[in-house]
Amino acid sequence: MSTTYGTFPGARPRRLRTTPAMRRMVAETRLHPADLILPAFVREGAREPVPISAMPGVVQHTRDTLRKAAVEALAAGVSGIMLFGVPEDAKKDAVGTAGTDPDGILQVAIRDVKAEVGDDLVIMSDLCLDEYTDHGHCGVLDSEGRVDNDATLERYAEMAQVQADAGVHVVGPSGMMDGQVGVIRDALDQTGHEDVSVLAYTAKYASAFYGPFREAVGSSLQGDRKTYQQDPANARESLRELALDLAEGADMVMVKPALPYLDILAEVAKAVDVPVAAYQISGEYAMVEAAAANGWIDRDRAIMETLTGVKRAGANMILTYWATEVARQL
Ligand code: PBG
Repeated sequence: MSTTYGTFPGARPRRLRTTPAMRRMVAETRLHPADLILPAFVREGAREPVPISAMPGVVQHTRDTLRKAAVEALAAGVSGIMLFGVPEDAKKDAVGTAGTDPDGILQVAIRDVKAEVGDDLVIMSDLCLDEYTDHGHCGVLDSEGRVDNDATLERYAEMAQVQADAGVHVVGPSGMMDGQVGVIRDALDQTGHEDVSVLAYTAKYASAFYGPFREAVGSSLQGDRKTYQQDPANARESLRELALDLAEGADMVMVKPALPYLDILAEVAKAVDVPVAAYQISGEYAMVEAAAANGWIDRDRAIMETLTGVKRAGANMILTYWATEVARQL
């Protein structure tokens, strides 16, 4: 009697799911601590870490606790840290002066972390003005209140220089201004920072899931970012952004947010020969934490499932607020 092995009952995919050891052996996607990058906020003048209510478990660090968080991330095997500065409210102005002050909070934080972990952890910095402007936009405004692309580029060039002077390894331009990667690359090269890399926020969508981040950086944004961040309806546009960023010298590219844009991530990952990052953002974090706090989902499994999904879609690196916790578990 002949069995047809190519189909049921000969073929039984469930055989490879029978035991944990079997499932582990045939797993196609494995998370590794080195895949993970920890985004971290540091607040100027803070004496105690300030909890972020919409992101339970995440804080605005003091300079001291940030150094500790960097050491813990490193010890857990996390590969990088992405720093965001939260200046004193009084230091915010129309052009985001604190973002280019060599003693501004982000630059201070970069030096602190560098002094603590040296080159053992990849130190990255958000290169964007929204943390420093009183209107909360990612750039400077023209006389009609619109975000002025080219005037903003001049500010970004200065930011790149001060962040690099402070010792950052990678700058992460997240403002979605046209031409930002090229201008930043030039600014770095002209100031002797040829070795500082650019992680381009290549596909960055105008997302509701950034909500908790606004609290995290104390942003006072009125209105939205839809004239510079991408429309969630568009996919092809991301390939155009990708081509431009690569032509302008991006060393690595990123897709953000992660979970609602896995199709974009998969396309970008297929199209490039540079490392690809995905940013699991504040609202993605908040959703899981909120549902778990209500007892509606299994928190740890949900976290691992989202991260596995993001890696499976093609991310080499994942920025996640769970980085240290997950790295310890792996
Ligand atoms: C812009 C920036 C934002 C985030 C990272 N960089 C906010 C925005 O674009 O509105 C969001 C990160 C998150 O939500 O976790 N500086």
